[in-house]
Amino acid sequence: MADFGYDITDHRAVDPVFGTLADFDQLLGRAHDHRIRVVIDFVPNHTSDQHPWFAESRSGRDSPRRDWYLWADPGQDGGPPNNWLSTFPATGSAWTLDIRTGQYYLHSYTRSQPDLNWRNPLVRRTMSDVLRFWLDRGVDGVRVDAAHRLIKDAALADNPPPVAGARTALVPGALQLRHIDQPQVHEVLRALRATVDEYGDRLLLGEVGVADPQRWAAYYGNGDELMLVLNFAFWSQPWSAAGFRRVVQTIERVLPPGAWPVYALGNHDLPRLASRYDAGRYPARTRLAAMLPLTLRGTALLYYGDEIGMTAVPIPPELAADPDGRDPSRTPMQWDSSPAAGFTTGQPWLPVPASARAVNVVAERDDPGSLLNVYRQLIHLRRRLPALRTGSYQPVTPEDPAVYAYLRRAGSQQVLIAVNFDDQPRELGYRLPAGSLIVLSTRSAASQPAPPRELNPLRLAPGEGVIIQLT
Ligand code: BGC
Repeated sequence: MADFGYDITDHRAVDPVFGTLADFDQLLGRAHDHRIRVVIDFVPNHTSDQHPWFAESRSGRDSPRRDWYLWADPGQDGGPPNNWLSTFPATGSAWTLDIRTGQYYLHSYTRSQPDLNWRNPLVRRTMSDVLRFWLDRGVDGVRVDAAHRLIKDAALADNPPPVAGARTALVPGALQLRHIDQPQVHEVLRALRATVDEYGDRLLLGEVGVADPQRWAAYYGNGDELMLVLNFAFWSQPWSAAGFRRVVQTIERVLPPGAWPVYALGNHDLPRLASRYDAGRYPARTRLAAMLPLTLRGTALLYYGDEIGMTAVPIPPELAADPDGRDPSRTPMQWDSSPAAGFTTGQPWLPVPASARAVNVVAERDDPGSLLNVYRQLIHLRRRLPALRTGSYQPVTPEDPAVYAYLRRAGSQQVLIAVNFDDQPRELGYRLPAGSLIVLSTRSAASQPAPPRELNPLRLAPGEGVIIQLT
């Protein structure tokens, strides 16, 4: 728990703080009873420094497990072997000297997370067996943590100096780094995909923090690597039609044939959605943001609490737990207005904010105009309209500075989504055919049908999103 489960000491057990394997099996069984599928995090890039493997590896240079991890002699100046940095700024160098053997070991994250050496066939086989252990247990798939990091530059060459303002089409990205995104990583992912494909109906999703669109898209392989490749582009966009449209257009352009996108606006590593985009001043933006992952062509990943508008919670230093300051986005789920928000009868591991009195599932479920009900309507529409679920994507009004609009088609069904990013009223620059029906507006309550409106031109209120069924 130095990195909240991403520092593993036993890949085939459940941390006692959460319970036991039997508890996991019960959770999985109950989820399946409710037709809920369960995908778990698979963390192949590193283990905890408390893992028995690392204890053996660091015991001596001649340990049989020495090359299960990445060890290197000190550099010329006696310092780290090169200039690679940890992902966590507070950690600094990605290398830590192990006094006993006089060598440095690599850790892409905290010092207590030594990177495994995926060039070692024993590591590959052992971690594939870990994957099989959980697939045999019945999990419906895995999210491969840090998939782009599994192979590092064998020469351990220094990374090039960052260039101020370096930006790729998707995100402000550092230049090509040598400790990530190496060509051989694709053979590793093909092997993991082959393992997952043995089970027929399981998901292989991967976290790939690669800034260059083409290199990012390569993680789909030729339909033989990751089935879904998480992208970080939305999370670093300013709140603008142009920014979000550019991300989608880029992804739709670089995806290999047959590949399927995945969109997310929040996760456990990022500031809370409802605290970004100046949503405090413009709460409509959080409602609008809900529309994007749920109406774009692709799988939607939603982060717990975003559906009720949970905001970043300031954490007093004495309660701070995360090595990278991410606690504010990880506070207990707010189920109801009780003291610990219905999350626990014990002491919650992070503080529950006073806002939980109003921002909770019980309060919002019964409020037709709540953010929760916008999400529920969107999910319901995705289930009801094949055009939303599996339809094609085509932008309309591609130059509009404020309204991002796109068509989704499946067979004869056509659905148009229009999102007014502006805080001023805007017209949709698209002629709607007679008979078009507004099936959702982020401004109207879930219980009532949208009031009749002039369709041509369709005037969008500030921060309003609409879904229109054309045919
Ligand atoms: C996870 C982080 C974690 C890191 C190290 C990332 O992909 O999302 O939460 O700290 O990997 O495992």
